[in-house]
Amino acid sequence: MNDDFCTDGKVRSILKTTDELNRLNDVDTILDKILMEARALSGADAGSIFLVKGDRLQFSYVQNDTLFQTDESNAAIYTDYSLPMTEESIVGYAALTGEAMTIDDAYEIEATKPYSFNKFFDEKSGYRTTSMLTLPIKSHENRLVGVLQLINARNEQGRTVPFSPECSTYLPLLANNASVAIQRGLINRELILRMMQMAELRDPTETGAHVQRVGAYCAEIYHRLATKRGVNYKKIKRYRDRIRLAAMLHDVGKVGIADSILKKPDKLTSEEFSVIKMHTVMGARLFQNQTSDLDHMSMEIALRHHEKWAGNGYPGDIPDIWAEDAQPGAPLSGKEIPLSARICAVADVFDALTSHRSYKDAWPNEKAYMILQDDAGTHFDPEVVEAFMDITDVIKAIQGKYQEEAHG
Ligand code: C2E
Ligand code: SIN
Ligand code: SIN
Ligand code: FE
Ligand code: FE
Repeated sequence: MNDDFCTDGKVRSILKTTDELNRLNDVDTILDKILMEARALSGADAGSIFLVKGDRLQFSYVQNDTLFQTDESNAAIYTDYSLPMTEESIVGYAALTGEAMTIDDAYEIEATKPYSFNKFFDEKSGYRTTSMLTLPIKSHENRLVGVLQLINARNEQGRTVPFSPECSTYLPLLANNASVAIQRGLINRELILRMMQMAELRDPTETGAHVQRVGAYCAEIYHRLATKRGVNYKKIKRYRDRIRLAAMLHDVGKVGIADSILKKPDKLTSEEFSVIKMHTVMGARLFQNQTSDLDHMSMEIALRHHEKWAGNGYPGDIPDIWAEDAQPGAPLSGKEIPLSARICAVADVFDALTSHRSYKDAWPNEKAYMILQDDAGTHFDPEVVEAFMDITDVIKAIQGKYQEEAHG
């Protein structure tokens, strides 16, 4: 595959990708980019990335040109699946030995090998895995970060062929350069989860699952809406990268709200609710320096996620968010509200409705869908609700991946 692709071209392409990876913040967009590049270099039809999590390998990202288009919102990336790190699986074997493995036909692995191919996904999807290239992803300190698996190399006629030997030369370079970006992406999510634990949850048994869900809903709603609008792929990826993290921080201003109000097991009085409203302003203050695009979006979302499409949300127009007596002002409406915040409003309310709260039980999705649709045009931007309703399969996959753990 790609035999005419000169050596220098490949190295240059890997270096360019490494550079682009360093500008991304979120681990999902980072994994997406790595798979795109690895597949372009090897001609692979499909691929997935497993990341080390404790003593297991967590299935973390997938692309498959035959089964689903890579530019569409896709439930498969939220599959909750992990493998023990043992020699019995191909991925586990590559992780343990630290060696790249080339397999020409997954269904013809000799019985003498310790590993065998797990046909589960093929049987479920109707896909036929044939050639495979499986590579450990190692950090510069030689620590295992994950495993990259490429599937079904294609020749120029589109026929499945074995991976060429030169792929095993170039792809480790890409995989190992990418490890820095992967680790950074994981740390970004981890730090945000800890910030939110301090701000909102103040409860060590909380998992932050709802924060992850709101981030993932926003990324997918945006992706769908932007695809419908014909926004170009590069812009979609950059915006998606930011909103995935910025949306996780929408309620960070709750750090300034007393437990007696935030955890009240009952309806709030109107005085208590006016205190709660200030979580938007307090959140925005944290990002006021705006040193990056990510800070800018985090500020928009924190400040504006409770505005309503037809007006009458909060905090509205505030001339100076630093003023000590800052008070909610005239509400914004329609497209005065930044798109990121209009998306987060839908994601946040959907998640609040379908989750247990100190003051209410969790509702079934169907009931929450009805509220979103009823309130499209009043509370919510109708275009955002429409995008949301297009991807309810992805929404369910996100709920399946990020579940609340039982409280102890
Ligand atoms: P939250 O619990 O994350 O809820 C976010 C938003 O989801 C709410 O914004 C509201 O628009 C929507 N929402 C939540 N529960 C319901 C519901 O049962 N029915 C409907 N139709 N919508 C719902 P809102 O109202 O501005 O509240 C902001 C935050 O204030 C809430 O965040 C929560 O932390 C707190 N809060 C609001 N109402 C109460 C309450 O009655 N008791 C307590 N303890 N906290 C409340
Ligand atoms: C493996 O390569 O064995 C892991 C992927 C799968 O479960 O098929
Ligand atoms: C829009 O409002 O639909 C696009 C402009 C923005 O990013 O807010
Ligand atoms: Fe909020
Ligand atoms: Fe919220």
